[in-house]
Amino acid sequence: MTSKKLIAPSILSADFARLGDEVKAVEAAGADWIHVDVMDGHFVPNITIGPVVVESLKRVTKRPLDCHLMIENPDAYVDEFVKAGAAYVTVHQEAVYHLHRTVSRIRDLGAKAGVSINPATPVETLTDILPDVDLVLIMTVNPGFGGQKFIDSGLAKIEKLANTRRDMGLDFLIEVDGGISESTASAVSKAGCDVFVAGSAIFKAGDYAAAIQKLRARF
Ligand code: DX5
Ligand code: ZN
Repeated sequence: MTSKKLIAPSILSADFARLGDEVKAVEAAGADWIHVDVMDGHFVPNITIGPVVVESLKRVTKRPLDCHLMIENPDAYVDEFVKAGAAYVTVHQEAVYHLHRTVSRIRDLGAKAGVSINPATPVETLTDILPDVDLVLIMTVNPGFGGQKFIDSGLAKIEKLANTRRDMGLDFLIEVDGGISESTASAVSKAGCDVFVAGSAIFKAGDYAAAIQKLRARF
């Protein structure tokens, strides 16, 4: 577990026509990780990017690429994402039949393995996999789009997960994604979040460094 709280700007809200420059800009502005939202138009109602883009981004940033796979059948793609340079590969619990097999595969390939749950999925469904993951991503919006409103029931889930982690003596990271802003960040931090994903709060701000500092001030 890290004591430092990390910020992972989500490139979903970046200008895709200038993606490399956008990533370099948030890196210079103090981003700890780069959050890459991968959507397939099936698991979520939006389509974004694949391993080819991850491979290109790997060449322009030193920051860990945090790949959030919002896709059906992620087992068919985890090898490609790791090969492309993903540091973290996070799959949705709801999209996988044999979660232990999937996270083991990600780790065997040399990447860190994460598991994510949608707002309607109880955090207790993850208890048995917790010893085998490096990160748990709690969604605080329904995945698919940036700029949505934070769903408050996520706070209790983060807290429960942080307590379970302590009780089980584990050290995976708790990441929170969706609706992170100056007004939600401190409650999320207090609940136990380690890694804050923020899309619109950073990329829709004129000054990325100022936006990141404003979030950090809330942790
Ligand atoms: C939503 C994505 C998020 C999204 C967050 O499906 O997983 O990473 O970009 O955007 P904001 O921070 O604007 O809610
Ligand atoms: Zn995401």
